[in-house]
Amino acid sequence: MDKLLSGLARVRESYRTKKNIDATIKKKFLSCIYEFYDRNYRHLPWRNTDNPYHILVSEVMLQQTQVSRVVEKYSSFIKKFPTVEALAQASLHDVLAAWQGLGYNRRAKYLWQAAQIIVSQYNGTVPDNHHALHKLPGLGKATAASVAIFAFSRSELYIETNVRTVYIYSFFADNEKVSDAMIEPLLKVTIDTTNPKKFYNALMDCGTYIKQHYNFSRHSAHYTVQTPYSTSLRKVRGDIVRYIVNNGAANNDMLVQSLGYAPEKIQKALEALCRENMVCEDNGIYTIPSHELIKNN
Ligand code: ADE
Repeated sequence: MDKLLSGLARVRESYRTKKNIDATIKKKFLSCIYEFYDRNYRHLPWRNTDNPYHILVSEVMLQQTQVSRVVEKYSSFIKKFPTVEALAQASLHDVLAAWQGLGYNRRAKYLWQAAQIIVSQYNGTVPDNHHALHKLPGLGKATAASVAIFAFSRSELYIETNVRTVYIYSFFADNEKVSDAMIEPLLKVTIDTTNPKKFYNALMDCGTYIKQHYNFSRHSAHYTVQTPYSTSLRKVRGDIVRYIVNNGAANNDMLVQSLGYAPEKIQKALEALCRENMVCEDNGIYTIPSHELIKNN
């Protein structure tokens, strides 16, 4: 058994005996995850920057998306939109074009709108606190916390899949359904407030490693099985956006013929996309809306 897993198993045994996390258990836990981190640190591009806008981009991309896929897209996106102003001024069409391959296109639109708010309301500076970050489009509680941590070194509570995996493995390996409310008090007492960035980066790497050996995420009460992408409306929507981004415009017949879905499926997806202002319709022609059109909606 390797060092991280055996070390954390010993932490689990001590916790089982003592039933609370004292200074010794905390120290053991931190030394386990840091030792692993020092030996197995992943050189991810967003770890080499202090630029809050770049970190914001990476954290939005990382929502529900594998690290390997984000690594591929992050650098080209930053090259194309190096500043928050550049992103705010870009057309939604160009932003969606740079986002292709990441999926969940709505995130790209939210990020673009967040950039506009940062420029117009915050003078181009990403806000440095959870409250203001959480108000930006597309930033839920978790992403607001992760940006506060990775961009501003704040000691926030941040629970996502890797964090869950480490805490479930270390403290709840016998439990069936572990809720985030059960993890939170343990995170509170073990968080390394002297270096929250390093602490969470270490949890990301340890969680990824543990997952390769055990399927502990299934012990999480927050574990959900997604509908297979190939049969979902999400895929139809994604294909429509890609078609319009690549071709500039499309009508209903073109989409049915080129994408090969049933007309009702195309129609349903188009209606949802129009409601969300991801695409707009004029005389049966669908395009990506302009800045002005979205602002006035
Ligand atoms: N998932 C969410 N944020 C992450 C990060 N900064 N590094 C790796 N995986 C993540």
